[in-house]
Amino acid sequence: NNSTRCDLMMFGALGDLAQRKLFPALYQLERSGLLDSGSRILAIARNKVDTAEARKLLQDKLREHVKPHEFDDALVETFLQRVDYLYLDFTDPDGYGALNEWRGTPEGNLIVYMATPPAMYGVIARNLKGANCCTDQTRVVVEKPIGHDLASSKVINDELGEVYREDQLFRIDHYLGKETVQNLIALRFANNLFASQWDQNHISHVEITVAESVGIEGRWGYFDKAGQIRDMIQNHLLQLLCLIAMDPPSDLSADSIRDEKVKVLKALREITPELMDSHVVRGQYTAGTSDGKPVPGYLGEEGANKGSSTETFVALKAEIENWRWSGVPFYIRTGKRLPEKLSQIIIHFKPAPHYIFDPDQKHLANNKLIIRLQPDEGMSLKILTKDQGLDKGMRLRQGPLELTFSETFDADRIPDAYERLLWEVMKGNQYLFVRRDEVEHAWRWVDQVIRNWNDSGEPPKRYAAGTWGPVASIAMITRDGRSWYEDA
Ligand code: BG6
Repeated sequence: NNSTRCDLMMFGALGDLAQRKLFPALYQLERSGLLDSGSRILAIARNKVDTAEARKLLQDKLREHVKPHEFDDALVETFLQRVDYLYLDFTDPDGYGALNEWRGTPEGNLIVYMATPPAMYGVIARNLKGANCCTDQTRVVVEKPIGHDLASSKVINDELGEVYREDQLFRIDHYLGKETVQNLIALRFANNLFASQWDQNHISHVEITVAESVGIEGRWGYFDKAGQIRDMIQNHLLQLLCLIAMDPPSDLSADSIRDEKVKVLKALREITPELMDSHVVRGQYTAGTSDGKPVPGYLGEEGANKGSSTETFVALKAEIENWRWSGVPFYIRTGKRLPEKLSQIIIHFKPAPHYIFDPDQKHLANNKLIIRLQPDEGMSLKILTKDQGLDKGMRLRQGPLELTFSETFDADRIPDAYERLLWEVMKGNQYLFVRRDEVEHAWRWVDQVIRNWNDSGEPPKRYAAGTWGPVASIAMITRDGRSWYEDA
């Protein structure tokens, strides 16, 4: 069925994710005219409110989370007319009959969005099946974290797999919905200039930084059990690494792309206990400053358990053991309470084989491609040119070939990741969603690092809030004669 008309059942509709991200994204799809006139939404939650009250609540939250100039009263009204509310105890099989009543004679595709804790996925799936509320066309959207290690992710995937086929499951990694992340595919496979340079012959190393200035923001209970490696590396950063490192897929179909990503995950070099010191740094922030204001350390956050050794920062040196990437380290780092919100990928190309310019400038002689995921989405290719002026001789200068999406494409807004992802679910296209084997291979790799941490009993290294992580993360890369890139 090619129509995008849908009946969307949103479990956990009054929870944080739904309010902050999903309803604003659905409203933006309404604004863009992409929601089919017949599409309907059933908001399902455990709050005892009726539809009118739920709509009022949603309206308030939209006002909070949508930019004022994008909030149009009449359009919000139209949008909310699509929404009904159902109070449901997700664990009570008897309650699910009401879902069929709401649906009546189905016209659009059924989409079930589980914006709930993952422990609920299996229960909801079974109850939906028990109430005959799913067909083999139903699309099911689930959020990370899929488990907290390989074993628990298998349990969740098995539970979902008992009710749905893999091609019905849309596992979200919202980084895949970011405009610039998708652009990695266009950049790499639509430009032969890069495609022919994308390997160990031409690239010396790759950096991936996903920095956040925020701390834990009231999510201590969840975060402390996860830590930065489970919350960010297992999913977002490994997905970025895969998109940079994968071989060209033979087409744009979901499985062609996902097959290539899985090959990368399988080729990641195991980080054995002996490699831990040189390849992994984990950190935890102490009190410091953020945006010029004093902020508490991780252990001083609201609800904190003072003895926690959960990490809020991870730096890793990942190596991919295959023909294309042999000898090319991928330095990746991510943390909370770093100086700014910044996500970027830097491809460091090797210098020209024979250097004929001023020896003092030799350090400049490698091209860099900087891919800015956020903020200021775009790309910058640092190339070498001759410095201007008669007195400069053949002095070199590094300058950017710049592509800033908002300027070049005159885009007044870049859609949020969830808008793109919800739209792809409506179209039934899985290429921006994560397949079961991707999740499991990523866990396998991350699990061994966590196991080594646990075995060593070493506490995380401290870093003050507002700095770029523990000094050991700088030492990790300088030991290889390199440094984390800083825009001059
Ligand atoms: C989420 C993590 O998946 O991604 C959060 O659970 C993190 O801890 C967030 O803050 C970052 O996403 P973004 O889109 O703001 O970079």
